[in-house]
Amino acid sequence: MSTSTKKAVKKAAKASASSAPAQAPSAAKPARRRPTTSPWAKVRNSPIHGRGIIASKDIPSGTRIIEYEGERITKAESERRDEQRAARAAEGGDGCVYIFEINKRHDLDGHMSWNTARLINHSCDPNCESENVRGHIWISAKRDIAKGEELTFDYGFDVENWKEHPCLCGAKRCVGYIVAKSHRWRLKKRLAKERKAKSSRRVERVK
Ligand SMILES: C[S@@+](CC[C@H](N)C(=O)[O-])C[C@H]1O[C@@H](n2cnc3c(N)ncnc32)[C@H](O)[C@@H]1O
Ligand SMILES: [Zn+2]
Repeated sequence: MSTSTKKAVKKAAKASASSAPAQAPSAAKPARRRPTTSPWAKVRNSPIHGRGIIASKDIPSGTRIIEYEGERITKAESERRDEQRAARAAEGGDGCVYIFEINKRHDLDGHMSWNTARLINHSCDPNCESENVRGHIWISAKRDIAKGEELTFDYGFDVENWKEHPCLCGAKRCVGYIVAKSHRWRLKKRLAKERKAKSSRRVERVK
């Protein structure tokens, strides 16, 4: 939920408390959910981007650290929301992606403030991976993780809109953009092509 929506809800609640006649509690009031927590990790500022999730103790490889929770939606709805997100991003708004695939027909939209796992950042050399456990998405340790390390996973983005997602993960093998490991060879090819075109343009100008 965006800050402005939160403010609007608060403002509406305040107005009805001061000016409206006493009423039974409204059924329309959205239920508040407590943010998901994990015994293994905490929310902290991230050196990669904004806030992230940091290991609060040593985590053994294979541990299910935190569930990625959200709303189960159809693929059609998922596409509609992704288009909305792209339009927001084009206007300079929130372009974050929070959609996970559950199965062929359903996705999970984790764009809820109580879904703490949505804060996990991407890395080109991640220490976590997502695991689908009977339709529940878990973020699990890919290797032993030391206390204080930031949790990361591969966002799995395709190579289509790579320029929109510069990567700041800082990993040695970082390709500079958030792209799934399986697509990185394609990105490297495109980057090499762009570099070549740039340098030949420079040579043209010198002539
Ligand atoms: C799902 S949010 C992750 C939480 C985010 N750090 C925050 O504070 O809201 C995803 C967004 O975080 C940013 N992000 C995640 N990983 C990144 C990375 N490796 N490099 C740069 N930005 C990253 C991108 O803006 C991405 O769209
Ligand atoms: Zn990277």
